[in-house]
Amino acid sequence: MGSLHKTTFVLLMFCLAALGSADYLKYKDPKQPLGVRIKDLLGRMTLAEKIGQMTQIERENATAEAMSKYFIGSVLSGGGSVPSPQASAAAWQSMVNEMQKGALSTRLGIPMIYGIDAVHGHNNVYKATIFPHNVGLGATRTLC
Ligand SMILES: *[C@@H]1O[C@H](CO)[C@@H](O)[C@H](O)[C@H]1NC(C)=O
Repeated sequence: MGSLHKTTFVLLMFCLAALGSADYLKYKDPKQPLGVRIKDLLGRMTLAEKIGQMTQIERENATAEAMSKYFIGSVLSGGGSVPSPQASAAAWQSMVNEMQKGALSTRLGIPMIYGIDAVHGHNNVYKATIFPHNVGLGATRTLC
C-alpha cells in the first residue's frame, strides 16, 4: 500500500468512526422496540417541545417558521381551508412540504402530522375525483 493509499485509508476509517459514534439517536433507530424509542425521545424533550407536539394549529397559521419555533405537532386544514382558490394537487403538496420542512428542521426533527377536513376523495383539491357517496346516502332516504 502506497503512502497516499494509507493516508486515504486512515482518513476514511477516521470519518467512518466519527459518523458511527457522533449522532446515534435511539429514538430514530427503527431496530429498537417502540417503547424504548418513545422513552428515549420523551427523555430528550423540553416542556416547550412537549407542549408544541400536543398542539394542532390551523393551516392558515402554519408557516415553516411557526412549525419550528413552536415545535408544532400537527396541522389541520379545516373545512374549506385551502392554500389558494382552486389549488392544484401540486399546490397542496408544496404547502404541506413547506410545513414539514419546518417541523423536521427542529432539534429533535419530529415530523408533523397533517390532517384535512375533506370528504369523498379530497374535495378541496381542484378537479379531484369526488366519489359519489352522496348519491348512495341519498338512496337510503326512501319513503316507506
Ligand atoms: C392565524 O391566521 C388568522 C387568519 O389569517 C389570523 O387572523 C391570526 O392572527 C393568525 N394567528 C396567529 C397566531 O398567527
